[in-house]
Amino acid sequence: MPLKRDKINGLIKKQEKTGKRQLNLKKELYIDFFLMDSKNSLKKTDFSLTDVVSIYDFSKKDILFVLERAKQIESMSSKEKSKLLENKIVASMFFEPSTRTRLSFETAAQEVGARIIGFADAGITSAKKGESFSDTIKTVSNYADLLVMRHPLSGTARLAAEISNKPVLNGGDGPNQHPTQTLLDLYTIKKFVGKLDGLKIGFVGDLKYGRTVHSLATALTHFNACQYYISPESLKMPKHISEEIKEKCTVHETDDLEKFIPEVDVLYMTRIQKERFPDEIEYNKVKDTYVLRKSMLKNAKKTMKVMHPLPRVNEISTDVDDTPHAIYFQQTASGIPVREALLDILSKVKK
Ligand code: CP
Repeated sequence: MPLKRDKINGLIKKQEKTGKRQLNLKKELYIDFFLMDSKNSLKKTDFSLTDVVSIYDFSKKDILFVLERAKQIESMSSKEKSKLLENKIVASMFFEPSTRTRLSFETAAQEVGARIIGFADAGITSAKKGESFSDTIKTVSNYADLLVMRHPLSGTARLAAEISNKPVLNGGDGPNQHPTQTLLDLYTIKKFVGKLDGLKIGFVGDLKYGRTVHSLATALTHFNACQYYISPESLKMPKHISEEIKEKCTVHETDDLEKFIPEVDVLYMTRIQKERFPDEIEYNKVKDTYVLRKSMLKNAKKTMKVMHPLPRVNEISTDVDDTPHAIYFQQTASGIPVREALLDILSKVKK
């Protein structure tokens, strides 16, 4: 069990006085991570990143570290939580629409005691007057301790992380990556399915443009997951992603949704994303390819869970919502502890 904060403060004081380590690192790993030295940087960490840009940057250890910290934070009292980012400012910069990512990040930031600045629409910023992305990032880095951003273009989060001297958290960059969604998906799977190792998961829908799918499928290579890619031919998982995953995991590809439903522990539905298609005619050809209905779940494992990063359009019929399989709204709730953990961890990082 982690130590109480008062006790830790006492131990830190004793450590400073005697110069002798007071904590058992193995037992108190997470607490030790949060001990600061005089330069306000970390003394010891099992988390190797200074930004959350792409799931490719995460080791298995990094992922488990975030999940464990999220679990810890979820069990804290509101008062204890509210001290974690006291006096910190989080910038929330959304250049693309969002409900869950923005609002859960902002709720998380408030719960851990931070103040928030930012915008939900780049149209009201000086970008509208022609300011470059780079200048916007440099400017906001002078105002905030952490930068949360979403942008319609792939690679912008990486660029922001390179420009900024403050930690950057990617809330989705075009069709590329959505690493914080992946961490909350993993947290949800662990909580409701009970395991990550050896999971059998079916990804359904827009696997070409689906950044949540790209990030989660990649993360699951650390856990030897068996993956089923179910999509129309034109929306298949990009080869550069699937080929790498196939080196570590068993992958089955099909366009038949019902075929694999009895096999999987998790069915991860996705929206076919109209906004990513260069041509509306192509979108119209595939838009209603998959609609999951309650009747299609009769041969599913009793414990099988249906997930969706949301928003949904019509790919899951509302008659699935009341079945024990549906956990997509619980999934949205996982955004809070996981994003609190990420804000907490990154607020202690020195770039
Ligand atoms: N899951 C997700 O990214 O949802 P939003 O687009 O509403 O943020």
